[in-house]
Formats: sequence, structure tokens, C-alpha cells
Amino acid sequence: MKRNLVLGVSGGIAVYKALEIVSLLKKKDINVDVIMTESATKFVTPLSFQSLSQNMVTYDMFAEPKAWEIQHISLAEKADLFLVAPATANIIGKIANGIADDMLSTTIMATKAKVIFAPAMNTNMYDNPIVQDNIKKLKSFGYEFIEPAEGRLACGTTGKGKLESPEVIVDRVLMELNDKKDLVNKNVVVTAGPTIAPVDPVRFITNRSTGKMGYAIAKEARNRGANVTLISGPTSIEVPKNINIVKVSTNEEMKKAIMEVYDHADIVIKSAAVADYKPKNYSTQKIKKGDNDLCIEFTRDSDILMELGEKKDKQILVGFAAESQDLKENAISKLQRKNLDYIVANDITANDTGFASEDNKVIVLSKSGKEIYLDKMSKEKIASNLFDIILEKR
Ligand code: CTP
Repeated sequence: MKRNLVLGVSGGIAVYKALEIVSLLKKKDINVDVIMTESATKFVTPLSFQSLSQNMVTYDMFAEPKAWEIQHISLAEKADLFLVAPATANIIGKIANGIADDMLSTTIMATKAKVIFAPAMNTNMYDNPIVQDNIKKLKSFGYEFIEPAEGRLACGTTGKGKLESPEVIVDRVLMELNDKKDLVNKNVVVTAGPTIAPVDPVRFITNRSTGKMGYAIAKEARNRGANVTLISGPTSIEVPKNINIVKVSTNEEMKKAIMEVYDHADIVIKSAAVADYKPKNYSTQKIKKGDNDLCIEFTRDSDILMELGEKKDKQILVGFAAESQDLKENAISKLQRKNLDYIVANDITANDTGFASEDNKVIVLSKSGKEIYLDKMSKEKIASNLFDIILEKR
């Protein structure tokens, strides 16, 4: 993973969102050097960016240098990736026309790193043919863009021009900085989240899975160049870009979705927490309360992973084992019973890892007898280690 991002901040109301971008990137251990235009400093002070990035912020071309290095050249060379967010019509116009008259435009001109613009401006301004022409011209030179979103803009109008959400922008940055491209041309299928078993039109049975682990795996596969299909149960996670997402609710829907793509899959990772049982009789009317206790009879539903194991051909099949006791023994038994290549054993009783938390701590077991302990770390890092293991890089 490359780690140096230079963030160019140009002056628009969305500057405050760039603070969130810096904060999210720092949490992912990315070093962020910020360059602000003078107008950006009128919206948010350099001190805010300095505090969050823990680096000096550059904005004055002619300030006394702190060390003997020419700032715009050293940052231009240091950048593994250059992001301009928010990018105003002005900075887009300057670069498209070769104007370098402040620290940000000069550094963009001097860098050999990939430059991505995330525009934010009034809808009419964005639609202006001059701006569109500049964007087209920059694209033809290899500059990339994160399209602005639609919504209510600060000026009160509604339309295209909102800075894309910090989460989506950060996701794109992490994808670009990931230099492991060892899944190019591979079809990776991931299942994530819970499934639900409906009881009546208003009630259902489900579990505590949030989908975070599965989404992290899908994104890691995408970042390494795979063609990813993510079959997701209900979650509140934003749909990641450049991933084929299939949203499902029940065990039956998940099974149907995975069977449709299984034959062409190279790697299948089943991190979803699938419901094993469903009510025997679904009530088409809302069940009314009575004076007595209520008993719902459950019937067994499909074990999707077991069926995938039986059908397995060339696929690398990876399961998860959510256990509250005898972690390793239960996981090994599932690995063998379901004909898996790997199983990720997850202790769900720990408070600071597992369901709903940002971190996880797992043991990865292989059918060839490998046992790899991944101590508490972010779900993104678990995902990265998991692919290193599957691709036999560790
Ligand atoms: N799984 C599945 N279909 C099910 C249940 C589980 O495909 N009906 C998959 C999960 O996605 C996971 C693995 O099987 O990859 C193990 O799931 P887990 O819930 O840990 O185990 P179960 O097989 O349900 O067994 P148990 O309930 O006895 O722990």
C-alpha cells in the first residue's frame, strides 16, 4: 500500500468536508499533506487542516521555507496520489489552461502522480460548457474526476454539484493507493450482512451482523483489480463504487443470487450470517396479539455454503465460522463438512471485535492444515491479510 496523499483544497463552501476526508484518511494510516488556495483559507483555517493531518499546511507560495527544499517540487515528488477536493471551477480552469500562479496550481503542474479532482460548485456553473470543456480536456490528458453528487446545494438550488461524500472519496483514494493488483481478471464473489426470515408483513427474525467485514473484503478485492459481485443482506453501509451489488433479504434470495454467479467465480467468500431457520408458516396478515403466549414453529432453511461445497469445481471457497465456544474445533469441523479451502474463525463473544465493531480478531485455517492468527486489527487489514493468505503470499 502506498501511503502519501497530497490533498489540494480550493475555495468553496464544501471545504469543511475536506476536513472529514483528512480525518478518515489519517484513521487508515495515510499521510496527508494539505495545500490550500488562498480563498480556501477564508472558509476554514490552515490550522484545522494542520491539526487533523499532523503536517504543516502549505498555502503561501512565498512564505519563508521551514527547510531548504522547494515546497511545490518536494510535495509534487512526494505524492503517490494527488486529490483536489473540493475542486472549484477556478482550479479546474487553471490546470486545463496551463496556469500555475499559486502553490496548488504549481504543485499540480509539477507532479507526476495521478491527479483526481472532486468538483463542487453551483449546478449552473458545473453545467457551463466552459467548465465541461475544461473537464473534458483534463480527462483527455489523464486527469481523473470523482463526479459531484446531486442534491441540495449551499446556494439553495437542487441539482448536480455537491461534493461526493467523504466516505466515497476516501474509498476511491484507498483503491488508488493499493498497489497490490494481484486479482486482475479474477471474479470474486462475496456475501455480506445478515439475512432475514419474515414472520408476517411487519416482523422478521434476523441476527446482529452489520456487513462491515464482508464489505471490507469486497472493497479489498476490487482494489486489487478483481471483478467483484457483492451479495448483501440488509445493511446500512453505503454501496461501494465499482462493485456489482446484489441486494437480497432472505436465505432463499441469497442462495439464488450466488448460484447465478458461482460457475464463473474464481474466489467465493461467504462472510454473510445466514439464517438457518425460517418460520414454518409465514402469516400473510399481521399476527394480532392474544391473551396467551405465542409459539412460532421454525423449519430448517438451506445451508448455502454446504451446497456450494458440494458443487465446487475450480473455485477457491472460503467460509466464516461465527463461534461462541471451541472456536478452532468448530471451525475445522465446518471447513471439512462444507468442503472449504479456507475458513475464517471468528470469536463472537469478544466485546471489542466481531459483530458491529470496526476491528476483528480471527484465525484463518486452511484445508492443508495452515493456521494463521490475525490479532486484533481493522476489518480492512483483516481483508488484506485474508487475500494474501488465499493467494499464498503468506
Ligand atoms: N452459511 C450458509 N448458510 C447457512 C448458514 C451458514 O451459507 N444456512 C455459511 C456462512 O455464510 C458461513 C458459514 O456457513 O460462511 C458458517 O456459518 P455459521 O453461522 O458460523 O455456521 P452454521 O453452518 O450455521 O453452523 P452453526 O449454526 O452450528 O454454528
